[in-house]
Amino acid sequence: VIESGDLLYEERPDPVPAPHEVLVAVRAAGINAADLVQRVGLYPAPPGSPPDIPGMELAGEVIGLGSDVRSVREGDRVMAIVGGGAQATRITVDESHLLAVPEAMDWAEAGGFPEGFTTAHDALFTQCGLRSGERALVTGAAGGVGTAAVQLAARCGASVVASVRNPERRHDVEALGADLVIDPADAAAHGPYDVVLELIGGPSLQDAFGALATGGRAVVIGVGAGASFEMNLFTLMMKRAVVRGSTMRSRSTEEKADMAARLRRDVLPLLESGSIGVPISETVPLEAAGTAYERFATGGKFGKIVLVA
Ligand SMILES: NC(=O)c1ccc[n+]([C@@H]2O[C@H](COP(=O)([O-])OP(=O)(O)OC[C@H]3O[C@@H](n4cnc5c(N)ncnc54)[C@H](OP(=O)(O)O)[C@@H]3O)[C@@H](O)[C@H]2O)c1
Repeated sequence: VIESGDLLYEERPDPVPAPHEVLVAVRAAGINAADLVQRVGLYPAPPGSPPDIPGMELAGEVIGLGSDVRSVREGDRVMAIVGGGAQATRITVDESHLLAVPEAMDWAEAGGFPEGFTTAHDALFTQCGLRSGERALVTGAAGGVGTAAVQLAARCGASVVASVRNPERRHDVEALGADLVIDPADAAAHGPYDVVLELIGGPSLQDAFGALATGGRAVVIGVGAGASFEMNLFTLMMKRAVVRGSTMRSRSTEEKADMAARLRRDVLPLLESGSIGVPISETVPLEAAGTAYERFATGGKFGKIVLVA
């Protein structure tokens, strides 16, 4: 639990599933940048989520069923995004948000899967309509969302340019399927891009915006390096370009169910066949969450840091 900016390990009563929810014994829960922001009081959980237990993704076993639940059974291995509360040993999750964990996938990978892959899939395909044969730029490509995005874009047949600031991570990102891995400072020189997935923020989009192709689409998902940039509207107009933004956490139950359905259709088959995977940088016991948060803040990782219960 978060208490005055500290992370404490406390006993709380088990949550009770509503008729359309299941109770999950959490086995693994990925850490995300938003958890660190929530910890310092700047990103409260949405209504309906525990206000002081962080965690927006999890994997675990179903151990209890609401009275209306029909699609899963006790003992099933599931994973999901949630509004909060995932970094606990028990959580309730709406049935419509559950994804089945493939047999060959271990708990750590499953716990680090939902947030990055749901964000990347929604941004690249639902928001930007990325198609085979197009050229995509993924910025911040060595992190949780970036590693998912590079794999999904490459598997759909797009040509992928990935920007990675840590030279030691470039080979890893190339191995995920990126056609070209570049220093972030060189993004403008390697355009044009049909789609830009902006995970870093304003200064990065400043370069990428000028390198959009005619009909290009950019989606802003992360603004850690700054929330503004100067947009030349003449450029926007002449390129017939689109710049949009998106968040997932505040979406309605129905919108999250829709995202889960798209993942079941488009992404789980790739996961089951081993064509995509979740790079795990580190696993840390849930009781030592503070250490994992410090590691996340240090940066330089490839993929996900995951808490294991
Ligand atoms: N809108 C949404 O719904 C949504 C959902 C998920 C995530 N997000 C946001 O999207 C962003 C990425 O998430 P993530 O989970 O992939 O985070 P992550 O795992 O921390 O990865 C971020 C990557 O960006 C790099 N990076 C950070 N600042 C940079 C800078 N100034 N210049 C160049 N590279 C930089 C990092 O490099 P180093 O390792 O070297 O620091 C890291 O490889 C975060 O801001 C997160 O909050 C938004």
